[in-house]
Amino acid sequence: MRLAVVGATGEVGRTMVRVLQEQGVRPEVIRFFASKNSAGTTVKFFDQDVTVEELTPDWVPAGTFDYVIMSAGASVSRWFAPIAAERGATVIDNSSCWRMDPAKLLVVPEINGDLLKGYRGIIANPNCSTIQMVLGFYKVHEKFGIKTIVVSTYQAVSGAGRRGMDELLAQEQGSTECKKFAAPIFRNVVPQIDDFLPDGFTKEEMKMVNEPRKILRDDSIMSWPTTVRVPVLYGHSESVFVETREPFGTIENLLDVMRTQEHVVVSDHPVVTPAVDAAGTDTTFVSRVRSFDDRHFLQWNVADNVRVGAATNAVRILLKHAELNGIR
Ligand SMILES: NC(=O)c1ccc[n+]([C@@H]2O[C@H](COP(=O)([O-])OP(=O)(O)OC[C@H]3O[C@@H](n4cnc5c(N)ncnc54)[C@H](OP(=O)(O)O)[C@@H]3O)[C@@H](O)[C@H]2O)c1
Repeated sequence: MRLAVVGATGEVGRTMVRVLQEQGVRPEVIRFFASKNSAGTTVKFFDQDVTVEELTPDWVPAGTFDYVIMSAGASVSRWFAPIAAERGATVIDNSSCWRMDPAKLLVVPEINGDLLKGYRGIIANPNCSTIQMVLGFYKVHEKFGIKTIVVSTYQAVSGAGRRGMDELLAQEQGSTECKKFAAPIFRNVVPQIDDFLPDGFTKEEMKMVNEPRKILRDDSIMSWPTTVRVPVLYGHSESVFVETREPFGTIENLLDVMRTQEHVVVSDHPVVTPAVDAAGTDTTFVSRVRSFDDRHFLQWNVADNVRVGAATNAVRILLKHAELNGIR
């Protein structure tokens, strides 16, 4: 396998490099790209110091890479992902740029990884909040059908990249500067993630409306999200209310169904938190499942947003695609 990582010096990029090593992925060719600011620095990959190269429009010749995994933001993906795909690579993109393009795949491998067989081109990684939410209830959807979702998120500052984390850390030291967030994030919560739209929803919230429909292959699912930034470094949390189409019977039955989901742990512990339980892991934790009847339930879920919500999902897409298409 010949692999390029674009955005290799960022929060998601560095984590993808770490996850590749943890999963024992040893491509015969690996190259790292970033902006000119990081060009010439090195990133460790196993025992090798790989020099970071500047990504330029004058990119490598066709046929150089089997895969390009990207986490350099939507504007870089918009111009560069089609170039990489035209030059023969399968592109796995972490930005929001291609997710709702009907001609591109939007993949959580545990749910719709079957679509990767025979596919060439750009594959979008879903939004971090969407990934952990759909993993938390996918088996319930498969068995009983999900009709309505009401979700409130508690999203870590690392979701806004290195600069998001730096802003919280600086405010902890007394800074009053707010650049990444609309209000101080230290000792506060900020009910805005991404830009506001004319109808009052934010772009982040609309990702949680549209992306689950595409991943779960059901355009009738109605989602009502409120997305909120909290002063946590790593790990998003979500309070999710779900209405099912068919009755699910007892809570025990519901829990048994949820427990069949790969990479999800349904915890008996009532207090599962992002910093203590989820940060640094590749697991989505579901807890506090409760209900008053057999058609509606509440669930609390936590996952590491940079890993489960981005890097690990991207590497899982890579490995699944390679397996299904015989790429070694
Ligand atoms: N953080 C999360 O939880 C999360 C979750 C899901 C999706 N994402 C998405 O993943 C992407 C990256 O996020 P992040 O949090 O890793 O951001 P980040 O920490 O700010 O890193 C950005 C990366 O992109 C590189 N870059 C910037 N401009 C570039 C250019 N013109 N050409 C090539 N490389 C360029 C940067 O390189 P330099 O070092 O040279 O600046 C850096 O490696 C974004 O699209 C984000 O929405 C993030």
